[in-house]
Amino acid sequence: MATVALKDVTKVFPDGTVAVDTINLDVNDGEFMVLLGPSGCGKSTVLRMVAGLEDPSSGAIMLGGELANDLPPRDRKIAMVFQDFALYPHMTVGDNIGFPLRLSGVEPGPRGERIQDVASALGIGDVLARKPGQLSGGQRQRVAMGRAIVRRPGLFLMDEPLSNLDSGLRAELRAEISGLTRELGVTTIYVTHDQAEALTMADRVAIMRKGVLQDVGTPTQVYGRPATLYVAAFLGSPRMNLLEASVYVHLDRYVALNLGEQALYLPWDDIRSRAVAHYHGERIVVGMRAEALTPVAPDTAGDVLHGRIRYLEHHGHESLAFLDIGATAIVVDEMGTPVERAAPGQRGLRRFNQVMQRLTGRATESSGPALEVGGGGGNRTSVLPDPGRHHRRPAELAVRLAPYPQVSPGHPLAVQVRMDALHFFDERGDRIDVGWR
Ligand SMILES: Nc1ncnc2c1ncn2[C@@H]1O[C@H](COP(=O)(O)OP(=O)(O)OP(=O)(O)O)[C@@H](O)[C@H]1O
Ligand SMILES: [Mg+2]
Repeated sequence: MATVALKDVTKVFPDGTVAVDTINLDVNDGEFMVLLGPSGCGKSTVLRMVAGLEDPSSGAIMLGGELANDLPPRDRKIAMVFQDFALYPHMTVGDNIGFPLRLSGVEPGPRGERIQDVASALGIGDVLARKPGQLSGGQRQRVAMGRAIVRRPGLFLMDEPLSNLDSGLRAELRAEISGLTRELGVTTIYVTHDQAEALTMADRVAIMRKGVLQDVGTPTQVYGRPATLYVAAFLGSPRMNLLEASVYVHLDRYVALNLGEQALYLPWDDIRSRAVAHYHGERIVVGMRAEALTPVAPDTAGDVLHGRIRYLEHHGHESLAFLDIGATAIVVDEMGTPVERAAPGQRGLRRFNQVMQRLTGRATESSGPALEVGGGGGNRTSVLPDPGRHHRRPAELAVRLAPYPQVSPGHPLAVQVRMDALHFFDERGDRIDVGWR
């Protein structure tokens, strides 16, 4: 069983850089796990620790359920492909692929068969006699893959294997790689900073930021219910619209989300209102993806936002309009410091007490010991924005339009908001669970 488990794994380099911070991750047998995050977030370090090329500073690396911290790399039954893989230029494609087999003493007969099998699977069966210099970039990449899988590893580690290729070839190889590893049933950990690559290839995606794991789930889960503001901002194109909203509860009527000059309203009997009402008088972040916004006639009633087109982007198959709606956008800083977390229980209770106090003008009975833990009812945490985490700017609401629409910058536009597709985040950047979907 080729499973991988990281248990509280931390890597601190001698210069004090914390590259990986207390990561817990399980990769199932045969699973295609993608590690996603911006440059420097620790992806390669995780991979190198799994391969045994780097020792964790603390924590356990488990392979097939066994502690592997002290297992030498050659005993880990792992194959690895890097971004800047090197082929032997003087050897033919066939010899390059067969090289690991020759090293481990496989006879020429069976070796030739294995090379042929792997090369056919990768679509390079007809170029086995060529030298690497006579191949295209995509073919060379396939040879590197072939060399890695020819020994039938239980675990396949790939570190940005496609980043040197042009976008057309990347898309093609993306499908091939995930198809091939699934066919072979090889457990794979694949590193990329490209969110589209992650969402299209992965069984599950693990999103990292500054050495900290932010969220793990199927592409549908992490895209549909991002655990943090950071994950919400990182996944999807165009990026999720993240608007600052101040919450105001009108008891028994609705919860208003004031977005600067305009507002959206959650009906009081809507299950989501309960969770959002806890933030009465505070600012939260409301996320809406472009697919939650539909252009409508300007006099349409209901959950509609009005704006003016600031600029347009034409992508061929669609155009994007960026609207000025008089709201404030929250811009997530990719490289910002990791979010500090209070224990959720404490935070929830403290918040409940604060809100009830403001709504009713008096302290609730339950305020007592738990409030002390939180540092007293006056311990209001940061208000958006926190320096170094995310910052604010006038919102440009991204809206999808048909290709080349008959509108131009300055043109007014109304959009209907699908209220059931909104995301909510607190001032720490954590998802507010509104109990649906
Ligand atoms: N040997 C080292 N000594 C000190 N710091 C290191 C060392 N190797 C990596 N780092 C640092 O650890 C952090 C994580 O590096 P890592 O290579 O894992 O990032 P990454 O997510 O793979 O980035 P990229 O997408 O650019 O490849 C970075 O801040 C990097 O500078
Ligand atoms: Mg890297």
